[in-house]
Amino acid sequence: MKKVLIIGAGGVGQVVAHKCAQVPEVFGEIMLASRTKAKCDAIAAKLPRPIRTAQVDADNVPELTALIKSFGPDLVLNVALPYQDLHIMDACLETGTNYLDTANYEPPDEAKFEYKWQWAYQDRFRQAGLMALLGSGFDPGVTNVFCAYAQKHLFDEIHVLDIIDCNAGDHGQPFATNFNPEINIREVTARGRYWERGEWVETDPLSWSMTYDFPEGIGAKKCFLMYHEELESLVRNLRGLRRARFWMTFSDNYLNHLKVLENVGMTRIDAVDYQGRQIVPLQFLKAVLPDPGSLGPLTKGRTCIGCLMRGVKDGREKTVYIYNICDHEEAFREVGSQAISYTTGVPAMIGAKMMLTGAWTGAGVFNMEQLDPDPFMAALGAHGLPWVAREL
Ligand SMILES: NC(=O)c1ccc[n+]([C@@H]2O[C@H](COP(=O)([O-])OP(=O)(O)OC[C@H]3O[C@@H](n4cnc5c(N)ncnc54)[C@H](OP(=O)(O)O)[C@@H]3O)[C@@H](O)[C@H]2O)c1
Repeated sequence: MKKVLIIGAGGVGQVVAHKCAQVPEVFGEIMLASRTKAKCDAIAAKLPRPIRTAQVDADNVPELTALIKSFGPDLVLNVALPYQDLHIMDACLETGTNYLDTANYEPPDEAKFEYKWQWAYQDRFRQAGLMALLGSGFDPGVTNVFCAYAQKHLFDEIHVLDIIDCNAGDHGQPFATNFNPEINIREVTARGRYWERGEWVETDPLSWSMTYDFPEGIGAKKCFLMYHEELESLVRNLRGLRRARFWMTFSDNYLNHLKVLENVGMTRIDAVDYQGRQIVPLQFLKAVLPDPGSLGPLTKGRTCIGCLMRGVKDGREKTVYIYNICDHEEAFREVGSQAISYTTGVPAMIGAKMMLTGAWTGAGVFNMEQLDPDPFMAALGAHGLPWVAREL
């Protein structure tokens, strides 16, 4: 039986704590630590078995190192914010502990995410004999594993990849984000980027769209091209890839609100002077928007996230779509969170399970598609995220 330290008690942290608690044969002891201990205690009170909780500032490496030493986990599961990734990896190296996260590092003062900062830890993790698993959420995460599964079983080469993220749910609020508003708005307002014939091509933010007809009654939705972090590792690790793009659905209502907020300067991430105090408009906006955690009981409908792939197998051209559909209300009934947190938290728990049971081993820094997809794909359905692979 192993010990896991979960850091971050937000929407995703709540799901991870529930899902780890459901698997006592792997997660023998659980500690949930975050900046605000009261949030950890509130989550702990809803779980079917006791866990430990603690207050920690994960940006303070000595404080975090002391906490890790006192609890002695086999794995630190990071579901705080991307700003904390490097500090938590430092504390893992300091204490000889394995590491997992769901989002790659972002410097707080620049709306930019890239794997280079975390890939730079490769030698240190390898030399220490430790494993760091990056991006074990849904996208990145399950989408990478869908690609690895397709590469292993369905294709000799994947030539064209479109990752399509559809949230067909409705929370009834005029404007709200489904996960941390600051991280979400930084991502959505960034320039688009896709990969074609060995080069990155940039597009203006949300300037390219397509309509995709989603399965199982979800129907046709408008999707917008965005840059997403899993593209960076997938273009390195998929054989024969010629083009890779990422798409996400947004309602007109969401886009109209976002445009106004951008136009009036509320999405800025540089500090402005307000009554003698420096404030960052996007951080202030986060404080007045609905807490994504509060959307759980309000959200109805389903998400559908998947990979559409075209390539060749045994000399024959084929197109395969692998996807999961997740129901917001069912997720809420099970763990008290809507499907966006659920689809992130379940794969985080499964990634941790892969590492702690020895199904995934290795020393160094890994992206999800570098590991055997089969045990992860088998665990997805068993833990609440069934998937479908359909040849079109
Ligand atoms: N791969 C995917 O599919 C996917 C999808 C969605 C989200 N994500 C990622 O999942 C992570 C969590 O998202 P979320 O929606 O749960 O965000 P959230 O609700 O804002 O929760 C973040 C948690 O981290 C805590 N935290 C922030 N700074 C901290 C620090 N310095 N020390 C300790 N704790 C700190 C926060 O504490 P307070 O409560 O005190 O603020 C909060 O409890 C993010 O990195 C996000 O990008 C990944």
